[in-house]
Amino acid sequence: MLIRKPSDILPSEITPEATYRDRRTFLAAAGGLLAAAALPLKAKGAQGSGANLGPLQKSPLSTSETPNTYAQVTQYNNFYEFGTGKDDPAREAWRLKPRPWEVKVTGLCAKPRTFGIEELLKLAPLEERIYRMRCVEGWSMVIPWVGFPIKALLDKVQPLGSARFVAFFSADRPDQMPGVRLPVLDWPYLEGLRLDEANHPLAILAVGLYGQILPNQNGAPIRLVAPWKYGFKGGKSIVEIRLVKDQPWTSWAKANPNEYGFYANVNPNHDHPRWSQKTERRIGELLRRPTQMFNGYGDQVAHLYRGMDLDTYF
Ligand code: MTE
Repeated sequence: MLIRKPSDILPSEITPEATYRDRRTFLAAAGGLLAAAALPLKAKGAQGSGANLGPLQKSPLSTSETPNTYAQVTQYNNFYEFGTGKDDPAREAWRLKPRPWEVKVTGLCAKPRTFGIEELLKLAPLEERIYRMRCVEGWSMVIPWVGFPIKALLDKVQPLGSARFVAFFSADRPDQMPGVRLPVLDWPYLEGLRLDEANHPLAILAVGLYGQILPNQNGAPIRLVAPWKYGFKGGKSIVEIRLVKDQPWTSWAKANPNEYGFYANVNPNHDHPRWSQKTERRIGELLRRPTQMFNGYGDQVAHLYRGMDLDTYF
């Protein structure tokens, strides 16, 4: 994100619109009827196991917009632990070993404990959540995540009254993640939410996409997704979730506090210091489209920020 601005992205890096799956194919996929012939399940460079996560509940919180293709979602990524290029994660993330995996839930809670990934997969009914995702760099995608509300996990550990924020720590494994050997960011990658944001029904821990186990490049085996915020909030390959009193000093804010605010709410009226945030380019489309406040989720989340100046708290 520090490295390139939107105009630097070459059209040749983006899968052409013609590869979009049609709406009918998408509906079949959403119903768990993934027809192998209909879409590129094992896209080149994709590191998913191919294992289905179904049966999945459908969520009323899903958008009805057409999702991006599996190839687009899994080959155009930001995951600096594997390099700063958009195609680095798809090429390099095979090195990550997402099983066995544990997530420690610690800090200001009555029942801190460690959860194995298999237990997390069963913690709450898995739902398909088709979300619009907007990256601070000016591009967007629609992604059919599979996951469960973060609240389901937090309820298990019983946050104390003193807990106000939740910090999400990504894995930091130099033997598996070549990018962390370089001081590009302050590792481990750290993101955070206010506790009420984390408890919002839209905020999920994703364990899959397109009905399948999450590919490594998208943050296997478990990552944060908060669709009203810029994509950098979505910490990948999480190993610790810590309930804390003070606002966490997150990796991107540390790297450049003027560019990457803690709130990271999609706000077209707050320019990034180096470019406008008023429009976005949906990956696979040529023309830019207007960006919506809170990425179009304002009806659900605006109340969380009542009384706050969203230009100051960007
Ligand atoms: N998480 C980790 N651990 N490392 C990263 O570099 N990049 C973030 C976020 N989560 C990142 C991360 C950014 S900038 C974006 S836009 C999203 O992941 C991209 O998610 P995607 O590749 O699944 O679309």
